[in-house]
Amino acid sequence: MSTARANNLSAAQRDRLSRFNVDSCVDVHCHCLSGLDDGPADMSEALGLCRALVDDGVTCAIATPHQLGRYETEISGERIVKAVDELNEMLQREDVPLQVACGAEIRVDMRVPELLECGELLSLGQTGRFVLIELPHETFVNPLPLLLRLKDSGIVPVIAHPERCEYLAKQQPVVASWLNAGAVLQLTAGSLTGLCGTRASQQAWGWLQAGWVALIASDAHGTSDRRPVMTAAIEQLTARMGHGAARVLCIENPRHIWAGEPLAGRLQAHRGGRR
Ligand SMILES: [Fe+2]
Repeated sequence: MSTARANNLSAAQRDRLSRFNVDSCVDVHCHCLSGLDDGPADMSEALGLCRALVDDGVTCAIATPHQLGRYETEISGERIVKAVDELNEMLQREDVPLQVACGAEIRVDMRVPELLECGELLSLGQTGRFVLIELPHETFVNPLPLLLRLKDSGIVPVIAHPERCEYLAKQQPVVASWLNAGAVLQLTAGSLTGLCGTRASQQAWGWLQAGWVALIASDAHGTSDRRPVMTAAIEQLTARMGHGAARVLCIENPRHIWAGEPLAGRLQAHRGGRR
């Protein structure tokens, strides 16, 4: 981020950075690119969402448009890179203090390793280290064979918002097998606050208390129903599990993903407890 924009931080950004004594607050999952998927329809809406992220304390966001599944033919890696460049140019022109990097939310599919290798699919932040995997919402598909293949390639699979998959409530041993295979769980901030419904909230807090969660992200799509609520999620996480847990799940691990570094670990988040 340019010095000029860094000097223009929002009150929420300043508060977040000083509260956790860091120089960035990363959102690893958001749909901020215009006209690609079910995120903003045009650049004006994209800018609105980026301003909402800034007002929610986020300084760096990984754009994660959907790849594969229903968006199979529409969104190539090349198209995402171009859209991110255009958005960063616009943010600079409009003096919005947000830096955007490339990524994708990839529907579970056994072709993922090969398509990552050839650049058709994008890893988070394009570091080649973490891949955000989306499960179908409506039906159970066990991604374990894919998770094991990714692990063999040295890639950490990040499972996007499993708490919103109702069928997983009765599949706890299966979810545990994903963690044992090296995958990590990313919850949506709105699931902690109740924005995603009571059932998702109960599942989210259950896994948080069990120490199964590595990351929280906004999964924001716009400024209304699916708006970013990281500030509220951090407040609730701090109140229920302590500052240390909020730091690992909302600050440290997202920053590790941005940098392509090993995560602090989900169990450490649990042990952090109240302090
Ligand atoms: Fe998403």
